[in-house]
Order: sequence, then C-alpha cells, then structure tokens
Amino acid sequence: MIIGKEEILPGIFKFEFKVSSSFIAEAEPGRFIQLEVSHGPFPVTRRPFTISSTYGKSVEIIFEVVGRGTEVLAETDVGRSLRLLGPLGRGYLLNPGKWLLIGGGLGAAGFPGLTAKIDSGLLLLGAASRDKLLTIPGLETVAITEDGSSGRKGLITDLLGSVRWDSFSGIALCGPVPMMKAVFEMMPFPAQAITQVSAEARMGCGWGVCEGCSVPKAGGGFLKCCSDGPVFQAESIDWERCEGIH
Ligand SMILES: Cc1cc2nc3c(=O)[nH]c(=O)nc-3n(C[C@H](O)[C@H](O)[C@H](O)COP(=O)(O)OP(=O)(O)OC[C@H]3O[C@@H](n4cnc5c(N)ncnc54)[C@H](O)[C@@H]3O)c2cc1C
Ligand code: FES
Repeated sequence: MIIGKEEILPGIFKFEFKVSSSFIAEAEPGRFIQLEVSHGPFPVTRRPFTISSTYGKSVEIIFEVVGRGTEVLAETDVGRSLRLLGPLGRGYLLNPGKWLLIGGGLGAAGFPGLTAKIDSGLLLLGAASRDKLLTIPGLETVAITEDGSSGRKGLITDLLGSVRWDSFSGIALCGPVPMMKAVFEMMPFPAQAITQVSAEARMGCGWGVCEGCSVPKAGGGFLKCCSDGPVFQAESIDWERCEGIH
C-alpha cells in the first residue's frame, strides 16, 4: 500500500510503500522492485524501480515521469495498494572504508540506501539543471549542473580531475550509459577495479526468464540485468557494445 507520496522536484516523485519484514530484511542497496503501476489494463507490464531506502516496515522509491507507466503511477494516491515484486536482483558488494558515489540525474535514486550502509562517502552528483538534482542526505556532496543553476557548471566528468582515487575502498556509479562509460574510461585502472555500476536495461519479467534485459558482457556474450545485476562490477561490462542499456 502507498503510505507516502511527495513530488520532490518537478515531475520527480518519492513514493513510500508499506511492506513485510521479510522484504525489508532482503532489501540490500542496489536491489530493485517490479511494480504494477496500474489497476487498469494499461500498462500491462510491471515497471522496475531501484529501492531508494527502507525505514522500519516501509520502502521508498524515487522516480521521474518519463512515459505512460510512470505517469499513471504519479497519479496514484496514498492509500492505494499496488502489487510489488521484490526485492529482485543483486545489489552492491559492500566493504568497509570510504566510498565514492558518482550519480547522474535519477541514477542517484538508490544512493540513500547505499549511504546508510557504508562507513563514509563522498558524492559527486550531476544533473541537467537544479530541478533534476536530487538531494542525498548524509554525504559530503559536490554538485554540478549542465546549465550552472546549482553547483559548478559543466558535466560530471569535469569533477574527476580533483578526485583522489586511492582514498576510496569502493566506488558506486549510476546514471545514463554515456555518462557511466565516460566516467569509467577516465578512471585510473585501480579505481576501475573497485567500481560497481547499477545498470538500467528495459525489462520484461524481472527475474531471469524472458532475456529482455541483456547487457553486453566484457569478453563476449551478455549478462542479464535483472538477475546477474542490476549492480555489476564495471569491468564486467563491454562498454563499447552498450547501446542495449539505457
Ligand atoms: C533496475 C532498474 C531500476 C530502475 N530504477 C529507477 C528509479 O529508481 N527511478 C526511475 O525514475 N527510473 C528507474 N528505472 C527506469 C524506469 O523503470 C523507467 O523509467 C520506467 O519503466 C519507464 O516506464 P514508462 O511506462 O513511464 O515509460 P515508457 O513509456 O516505457 O518509456 C518512456 C521513455 O523512457 C525510456 N525508458 C523506459 N524504460 C527505461 C529503462 N529501464 N531505463 C531507461 N530508460 C527507460 C524509454 O526508452 C522511453 O524513452 C529503473 C530501471 C531499471 C531496469
Ligand atoms: S527482465 Fe526478463 S530476463 Fe531480465
């Protein structure tokens, strides 16, 4: 059941759902849910959303309205029950120490839950403009926007020159594929080796059956975003063949 709803930025919503204790126990950062966004006939298929955070017996997602499914979801009111499948997929492999989190736009939606599980972290956050820039509490944050409406003006790759890569024990990277590819390629090799990315492929089933969510695998072949991921070692992805992931 939806127990909280807030439009945190124009067209970007935070929804809170009441869930079971067993769901909470398995809701590691980076895992996702498949949500039936409508009680009506359309859209037919469920939509995947990263688990943003959990509190007590509730789970939060943050989503942007981009099409019919998210439009219908955004119109749904507190008190309605929607069928929710999950937690699905594999989340982040966590280790102690300081983490670097690099998020582009809605790619940072899963970072609140990750922040709660790491010792400390630095967040590099990029977005097109201030009204697309999420707020992630609990982290030292450096923000950059393409139009300069908040933080520095530029692309997230403009922040990488001053990063002390060897001061981090883990790196989480999530955003549009061109952004993740560009960031990954600018990293020194040791940083690439400790980087995990959260991929977002178009999905059907969400649990490994339909093969609709292929992500190109380094060395050939494909990975399934829903069951091998959505969080992958960045090195396990063939970034040159990545047109298939959005
Ligand atoms: C594992 C996973 C986690 C996700 N987590 C979040 C999240 O936390 N917050 C959030 O806002 N979105 C998230 N997404 C993307 C979200 O699922 C899509 O935005 C949503 O399914 C679009 O549904 P729609 O019916 O509104 O759009 P559609 O009408 O289906 O499509 C509208 C537009 O959105 C694009 N689109 C659709 N699905 C995806 C996708 N999977 N990735 C990128 N672009 C897509 C389409 O190419 C099209 O341009 C996630 C996707 C995956 C696979
Ligand atoms: S969404 Fe069906 S196999 Fe991944």
